[in-house]
Amino acid sequence: MDRNEIIKWLKDNDQNNLKELYRQAYEVKLKHVGLNVYFRGIIEFSNICQKDCLYCGIRRSNDSYERFQMTKEEILGSAKQAYEMKYGSIVLQSGERSDVQFVDFVTDVVKGIKNLSDNTLGITLSLGEQSKETYQQWFEAGAHRYLLRIETSNPELYKKLHPADHVFNERLNCLTVLKEIGYQVGTGVMIGLPGQMLEDLADDILFFKDMNIDMIGMGPYIVHNDTPLGKSVDGDISSKNFELGLKMIALTRIYLEDVNIAATTALQALKPIGREMGLQCGANIIMPNITHTKYRKFYQLYEDKPCLDENASLCRDCLSGRIASIGESIGFNEWGDSPHYFKNRILK
Ligand code: 5AD
Ligand code: FES
Repeated sequence: MDRNEIIKWLKDNDQNNLKELYRQAYEVKLKHVGLNVYFRGIIEFSNICQKDCLYCGIRRSNDSYERFQMTKEEILGSAKQAYEMKYGSIVLQSGERSDVQFVDFVTDVVKGIKNLSDNTLGITLSLGEQSKETYQQWFEAGAHRYLLRIETSNPELYKKLHPADHVFNERLNCLTVLKEIGYQVGTGVMIGLPGQMLEDLADDILFFKDMNIDMIGMGPYIVHNDTPLGKSVDGDISSKNFELGLKMIALTRIYLEDVNIAATTALQALKPIGREMGLQCGANIIMPNITHTKYRKFYQLYEDKPCLDENASLCRDCLSGRIASIGESIGFNEWGDSPHYFKNRILK
């Protein structure tokens, strides 16, 4: 498959053709990563953010959310729950902060999670752009994967989605630094952004490959009405973006083959069975929310985020049933690393 073919598929709206695309992607998935779905329990531990991305509900300028930060004990409590539920890995995500107090807090929490799980829980961080020293410090504390979405690989579009002090090349550089340190690196984009062309999405997939990315987390762009970008959107773009989201998963699976691809919550926000559909189009990772229920309503990057009232064990049971219903199994107690990461290491 080449760029032109990817674009052709992104333009195709014939449902029979798309079924065939999804079937092909599923075959590639079975061959390269198998039938197991891996869980990463995600803890969204703070919505305090120093940045001001024009699309994001927890941007600094949005004063309609109370700001929170979970305590170390609360985060460790959630991680312990994930461990007891046999999730192999957890993800720590929060708004972006780079002050020393925050950096040291995260280091301490990562060490605490390693301790409570006898060093067995895999830890992914999703904490934005940081200095090389910070990434190194967190790696040494025990984190081994890092998610940092490029949001769009088109620098011009990136500029339109962010204030002037959010710089595309700095983000790009972070991805390179993370790789150098030894993290398994994940990135991704938002799909269906205002001003984004189908050609841009095709280039996003080529970007993942060029950057030698191990993990992909991408999802449809969803309007948040308290944001400048959300306010600029006319009409309902959700069903168009949902379908584009599935196509991007399928095309990325076919083009990159052996990476981990998440069926993200944004898919579920647009359709209750969205994540299961993502798995059937080539995704193999799900990130169940294990954040304390009392904080979830303050962490809405976009509107209609699902599972606001559920607790962690409800989410687990609900998901397990849904995954069995599509004939897949869950890799409990396993890290479920991206096969791509290891092939790469051996080649080097
Ligand atoms: N719609 C969809 N995804 C969003 N994100 C932030 N705001 C939105 C939105 N309105 C995604 C970004 C970010 C990730 C944590 O959440 O891609 O990297
Ligand atoms: Fe928080 Fe963009 S608004 S990282």
